[in-house]
Amino acid sequence: MCDSDRLNSVFLDYGASKVDNFWDADVFILNTCSVRMQSEQKAFSYLGRIEEFKRQNSNMKIVVMGCMAERLGYSIKKRFKSVDLVIGTKDIDSSVSKIIDLCYLKKPFKKMNFNVNFRSEIVKHITIMKGCNNYCSYCVVPFVRGIEKSFNSSTIIKKCSLVVKNGVREIIFFGQNVNSYKYGNVDFSLLLRNVASIKDLERIRFMTNHPKDLSDNLINVISESSKICSHIHLPMQSASNKILQAMDRKYTYEYYLNLIEKLRFAVPNISITTDIIVGFPGETDKDFEYTLNAVKNIRFSGLYVFKYSPRPNTKAFKMIDNVSKTEKKKRHTIILKESNKISAEIVLKMLGNKYQVLIEKIDGGFMEAKTKSGHKIFLKINKKYYGKILNVVIKEVKGNSLFGDVID
Ligand code: 5AD
Ligand code: SF4
Repeated sequence: MCDSDRLNSVFLDYGASKVDNFWDADVFILNTCSVRMQSEQKAFSYLGRIEEFKRQNSNMKIVVMGCMAERLGYSIKKRFKSVDLVIGTKDIDSSVSKIIDLCYLKKPFKKMNFNVNFRSEIVKHITIMKGCNNYCSYCVVPFVRGIEKSFNSSTIIKKCSLVVKNGVREIIFFGQNVNSYKYGNVDFSLLLRNVASIKDLERIRFMTNHPKDLSDNLINVISESSKICSHIHLPMQSASNKILQAMDRKYTYEYYLNLIEKLRFAVPNISITTDIIVGFPGETDKDFEYTLNAVKNIRFSGLYVFKYSPRPNTKAFKMIDNVSKTEKKKRHTIILKESNKISAEIVLKMLGNKYQVLIEKIDGGFMEAKTKSGHKIFLKINKKYYGKILNVVIKEVKGNSLFGDVID
């Protein structure tokens, strides 16, 4: 997602723009993920559709990027003959010039003029590190994204200042494991402190985190800085110590729970979200029950649950994938149902309350705003509110969607 974001802004600079349908496209860029087999299958099915389309519009170029491109390389071109370019994650920096060459786009001498009609971005994703050294036993990321590398902190800070000057009000730091960021003497908490001092920047978010790297220092910064949003995504994966160990996660459930307690003590009302894998090799009914109970006890505001999917090269690939497909599906549904119930209860409690929100988007007949906890609130459109921090009251809850009114 972040790579897509980055490409988008670079192409804008070249005078290119995103289009809403295939017919208008000169180039189709498929940014792929390899984390689960399903993501790769989805990418293949997309490619199939695009190939079909290219038969009728032979001028269009097809580019495949991202983790799957890194993992499978040119074998993608063998299978899909009409693919013009395959760019792995390690070549991302040179990818733009390759795509530009492919499309014969020439960089205009004049930079785009950000005039008054230009609706500037309000929320900006900034990648602060890449790669991962953790080698969780199920995960393909270290193989497709390479070893961990933190980017230069002063470059990051300069970039943040620049985007804020151009209208950005919220920055989201991105990386496989942002809380292990370290550039010289600058660790993640110091980076956050520095960026929080940028005038006119209203909010900072970050993701994703590894529980083992969540320091007390970081918890302190979140609690001390009003700009750092009270939301943390902290992947738990499982609550069974046996499974956590087999996953090479390097913490126990008790350690994880203690982090949650510390976070909730330091930042009351912090919203905590997580990732869970069900059906990891060797996960028994009992192991699953531990995870389900943890979901019930911790009450995450939201979670992503995944069915374990064996990935080539990983340590777990050699383990026997002994939880049946039906059982994985059953466990997945149970977690999802429980989590949806809890999320809905949390959202319902917001009804009638006041929240400070940032108006981020105007889309589909509504203005989209976000609370510091990360809850999306739909408001009536009023263009003068775009990009502003405002107070709203929650008037209606439909399923998990919140609707509110601005309090003038
Ligand atoms: N199978 C299932 N889920 C996985 N994830 C990562 N690798 C796998 C895998 N092989 C999940 C983890 C991670 C999230 C991004 O994807 O929960 O936190
Ligand atoms: Fe994969 Fe995250 Fe583990 Fe790194 S920390 S190996 S990205 S699951």
